[in-house]
Amino acid sequence: MARVALVTGGSRGIGAAISKALKAAGYAVAANYAGNDDAANAFKAETGIPVYKWNVADYEECKAGAAQVEADLGPIDIVVANAGITRDAPFHKMTPEQWRQVIDTNLTGVFNTVHPVWPGMRERKFGRVVVISSVNGQKGQFAQVNYAATKAGDIGIVRSLAQEGARAGITANAVCPGYIATEMVMAVPEKVRESIIAQIPAGRLGEPEEIARCVAFLVSDDAGFINGSTISANGAQFFG
Ligand code: CAA
Repeated sequence: MARVALVTGGSRGIGAAISKALKAAGYAVAANYAGNDDAANAFKAETGIPVYKWNVADYEECKAGAAQVEADLGPIDIVVANAGITRDAPFHKMTPEQWRQVIDTNLTGVFNTVHPVWPGMRERKFGRVVVISSVNGQKGQFAQVNYAATKAGDIGIVRSLAQEGARAGITANAVCPGYIATEMVMAVPEKVRESIIAQIPAGRLGEPEEIARCVAFLVSDDAGFINGSTISANGAQFFG
């Protein structure tokens, strides 16, 4: 039986590329999404990957969602915590609401996603957790005090989970994408985006598939001794 992989935020952007790469590698993939029904339905029609709607910021929804995936596809052995949002603003303008939304989705969302499936991984003595962090969690970023805090937090999460899961055959790793050609990066004002690209030695944005290939390796049986690590894929923008 194919291993079951849950990808949050799995119907758009980097998450969609991860869902497709894991399906191509032979996993039974479930793609979670939060709200964009049209994009999720188009993704499902294109890929045949089932989509599940819930809000990663809500623990009970995550628990129920994971239970539904397990009822449909089988026990979740692989979880890719990818769902994330930005609410960029210089710190002096950042509102408590912008802080809270990003923390709830990007950081608490990782807890909410992994916690319900962790006991099953421990029981079955196998698990793969991959959290999608960011270069901006490694280096910080103007106007991203909230986002950078969550992405740095991801690294603390996987380093801790790695120590707890290692003896149970569970690995937990982070991938830190640089600037990737997705809607999130395209939402940055063009002038700012151009100045960012100028700071990337590769001279270009990354492609979602370049991140998906990192994830496909980390969840494979071959990567069993890679635990608590961080893979940076950023075109040499930063060495974290
Ligand atoms: N470094 C230094 N200064 C910067 C800057 C940067 N990266 N970005 C903006 N500024 C400066 C502007 O030049 C401007 O300076 P002046 O006042 O001297 O003209 C000032 O900061 C902006 O002030 P504003 O009051 O106009 O700012 P604003 O309230 O309109 O906010 C912004 C604008 C939201 C900061 C906008 O510039 C922006 O979106 N910047 C990009 C932030 C960013 O890189 N986000 C990453 C998103 S992609 C992502 O997060 C994915 C990933 O993981 C990599």
